Amino acid sequence: MHVGLLTGGGDCPGLNAVIRAVVRKITNAGGDCLGLLEGWRGLIEMNTRPLPALETDGIIARGGTILGSSRTNPYKQPADVQRCVDNFRDLGLTALVAIGGDDTLGVASKLYAEFGLPLVGVPKTIDNDLMATDFTFGFDTAINIVMEAVDRLRTTAESHRRIMVVETMGRHAGWIACLSGIAVAADYILVPEVPVNLDHMCSVLQRRRAEGKMYGLVVVSEGAKLPESGLITSDVHTDEFGHVQLGGIGEVVADLIQNRVKIETRSVTLGHLQRGGPPSAYDRVLATRFGIKAAELVLEGKFGMMSALKGNDIQAVPLKDAVAKQKILDMRYYEEAKAFFPEEEPKK
Ligand code: F6P
Repeated sequence: MHVGLLTGGGDCPGLNAVIRAVVRKITNAGGDCLGLLEGWRGLIEMNTRPLPALETDGIIARGGTILGSSRTNPYKQPADVQRCVDNFRDLGLTALVAIGGDDTLGVASKLYAEFGLPLVGVPKTIDNDLMATDFTFGFDTAINIVMEAVDRLRTTAESHRRIMVVETMGRHAGWIACLSGIAVAADYILVPEVPVNLDHMCSVLQRRRAEGKMYGLVVVSEGAKLPESGLITSDVHTDEFGHVQLGGIGEVVADLIQNRVKIETRSVTLGHLQRGGPPSAYDRVLATRFGIKAAELVLEGKFGMMSALKGNDIQAVPLKDAVAKQKILDMRYYEEAKAFFPEEEPKK
């Protein structure tokens, strides 16, 4: 049994924990593992490294991925798809575990469906926007990073009586903004799933000040759309999967607030800090459980499947279900967040 592993898409805390779990489980079963470097590019270019169990010692505590990552999409070039199929055979792989988000797993799902490659997926993304799993690993670490950052920003906001706007990642799903916003008791949260109502946001901020709270915290998701400007992008070029780079909405929102409510307002974009550093305990455990399940699927010969969290159980779900569409924010969370910035004026 010769099992390949690759990590694709944006890096994410917990990738190394998955690698460790797969390698340990496969080697314990008498097989060995081969790392394909930098996502699908590693398979296209046959860029690999052996992964003996000892190499995975201690990596559970490290962010990023020891295999490197990229947003390489083999389906951009038909020749690259064929290379993946040929190289899979030439490397003598029995199976391949692809660890990634919707883009990486979308490729895995197609290679399985079109060529019958024995692939198993593991869901990763700080955005938590993958279908068929309740949560992805990386998300918990990301919201904890946002929480710690905002707890620090709060002291300055409070001291200077300012409003602080914090921009989070998350692409077109509001999971990071909404759940971190709840965790920091934000005065207002802007997510892509809800049309932005600037009048309401400003009236909430003004009301809080009139009530005596002399600072304000607004959490905005990078993918939220403003009434006039729509999506704000920091680079119009698209990556190999057709995504534009989002970013910049925090500053725009801060300017809008300052102009309307006449309170000094600053913005902070947390950017890649949200993806960096060691994974939280929750993510280490979840990633480990996902890795064990993926290795079991390989050992049982159950391909075209992905490890998934359903309640407290780790289950196998078809890869195609995970990539069918994007999992946007569960609006129950936003309704709960809104209890703190209701549409109606609070009753006196
Ligand atoms: O998908 C993870 C993510 O961090 C998104 O939240 C963000 O929009 C994107 O990746 C940024 O990608 P890159 O690191 O390629 O700029």
